[in-house]
Amino acid sequence: MTLLQVNNVTKRFGGLVANHEVSFQVGQDEVVGLIGPNGAGKTTLFNCIAGFHQLTSGSVIFDGEDITALSDFQVARLGLARTFQIFQASGDLKVVENVMVGSFMRTSSRGAARQVALEVMEFLGIADTAGEMMTELPVAAQKRVALATALASDPKLLLLDEVGAGLNHSEIDGLIELLQRIHGERGVALLLTEHVLEMVMKLSHRVIVLESGRKIAEGEPAAVVKDPEVVRAYLGDHYVKRQKENGDA
Ligand SMILES: Nc1ncnc2c1ncn2[C@@H]1O[C@H](COP(=O)(O)OP(=O)(O)O)[C@@H](O)[C@H]1O
Ligand SMILES: [Mg+2]
Repeated sequence: MTLLQVNNVTKRFGGLVANHEVSFQVGQDEVVGLIGPNGAGKTTLFNCIAGFHQLTSGSVIFDGEDITALSDFQVARLGLARTFQIFQASGDLKVVENVMVGSFMRTSSRGAARQVALEVMEFLGIADTAGEMMTELPVAAQKRVALATALASDPKLLLLDEVGAGLNHSEIDGLIELLQRIHGERGVALLLTEHVLEMVMKLSHRVIVLESGRKIAEGEPAAVVKDPEVVRAYLGDHYVKRQKENGDA
């Protein structure tokens, strides 16, 4: 079943067209990757979907409901979560309090919110950090808290914007495993952008490629990396070179 439907989304900032007539869908049991060079419009598209930006034109349907005009908060309550925002403002909170920000999307009871937060933290293997301050945590642990906060809102779909940024190889592997568990064990659909392309390729069932705000390709990861248009626009100077350096090509 289709969970998210993005229909001809255009977003302009003054004269700049950050997203141009972008359309795609995400199924309820899918992991979809969104890739493209810097400035392609990935974050803007996430902001449009999650209610942070008003669209210039187009529509977004989530779980059968038109969410085009809804606020970020309303969208989150319907079960569409993203990691990015809460993570930003959380420095002076204890870890468990940060995660409870997510739980409060679903309950107004402090006790219930705390219980949900602790369950999610247990699932992600960070229960022991509950009492620590966010600022004391290493980056990799902070990312898990960001994931926990999103999961505590009990989402059907999770938008992940460059969650691998700043992590080393083994931390990336840990993150991939974690995202696979979030998808597999909790049934959460994922839509992710990632600078670390290998991560998107490993996780995604389907990949969408943006360039200069337009969708230029869509398909299975193995097919997309061979698409001449994608190689020209993007992979030519990133992925292909790196695969060659790694001796994979
Ligand atoms: N709030 C904004 N105001 C004006 N221009 C923006 C804003 N956000 C993004 N842009 C511009 O939109 C384009 C797409 O940016 P972005 O969505 O961040 O790309 P990506 O995430 O793919 O790197 C860029 O040219 C960027 O400078
Ligand atoms: Mg971005």
